[in-house]
Amino acid sequence: MAVLKNKIELKNVSKVYETRDKQVEVLNNLSFEVHENEFLVLLGPGRCGKTVLLNILANLEKQTSGTIEFAGRRPKMGDLGMVFQKYALFPWKTVMGNVEMSQKLKGVDKKVRQEKAQEYINLVGLKGFENSLPKQLSGGMKQRVGIARAYASESDILLLDEPFGALDAQTRYQMEDEIIKIWEKNKKTIIFVTNNVEEALYLGDRILLLSSRPAEIKKEYVVDLPRPRSYTDKAFLEYRNEIVDNTDLDI
Ligand SMILES: Nc1ncnc2c1ncn2[C@@H]1O[C@H](COP(=O)(O)OP(=O)(O)O)[C@@H](O)[C@H]1O
Ligand SMILES: [Mg+2]
Repeated sequence: MAVLKNKIELKNVSKVYETRDKQVEVLNNLSFEVHENEFLVLLGPGRCGKTVLLNILANLEKQTSGTIEFAGRRPKMGDLGMVFQKYALFPWKTVMGNVEMSQKLKGVDKKVRQEKAQEYINLVGLKGFENSLPKQLSGGMKQRVGIARAYASESDILLLDEPFGALDAQTRYQMEDEIIKIWEKNKKTIIFVTNNVEEALYLGDRILLLSSRPAEIKKEYVVDLPRPRSYTDKAFLEYRNEIVDNTDLDI
């Protein structure tokens, strides 16, 4: 098997917040690697520090100690595509306006950036909705805009923070299928955060199971299941039961 070069390497990353009267330890000594074009899932209970970790990876916050290397160099702020827990779309901008935003900020020519944006709008199944405003879209459609926008940032690394957490189960299953289809068509390194065991197993090449706060890596699972996966497959359920036995998640 080919050895993938490491895209991201964290060594002993910790985060402590100093509040007026106490220290809040959020991340405890995290060391792991993320491989090029891997779909990595971070699975952990609520409030364990998942969003803080993604914000640190996105360079929106600084770790208290430890190092992070991105194939040797740290990306500039805005170099990573991020999909947030809540939609975080610009409400006054159309679908096209939202998706083309990062390229517009980089000063890319209008025709070039809109052609690119159109490709990703098509890829997430929103052809025909280019001129719609976010408020005219369903939750699932808004989250697709977020994914298209992250893809259109042309970043090699996407960070997705519980992107389907607010969706109803039916839409969520659909979106899980779609993100995999999009990723298989257009491989990128994805770091996907969830508190849902089935979602983690359905999506991940690899799962890092995090403890409750302060987040530590409890266990790593290399998910050796063919795609497309099935929630009811015997091997899937065996993985699920093993993770559930090891987890701090409320199930
Ligand atoms: N700026 C901050 N100051 C103090 N505590 C914080 C700050 N940001 C986050 N925290 C704490 O870090 C913990 C983890 O938060 P978060 O990463 O949002 O959890 P989740 O795993 O649900 O995404 C929470 O207990 C939160 O209160
Ligand atoms: Mg969070």
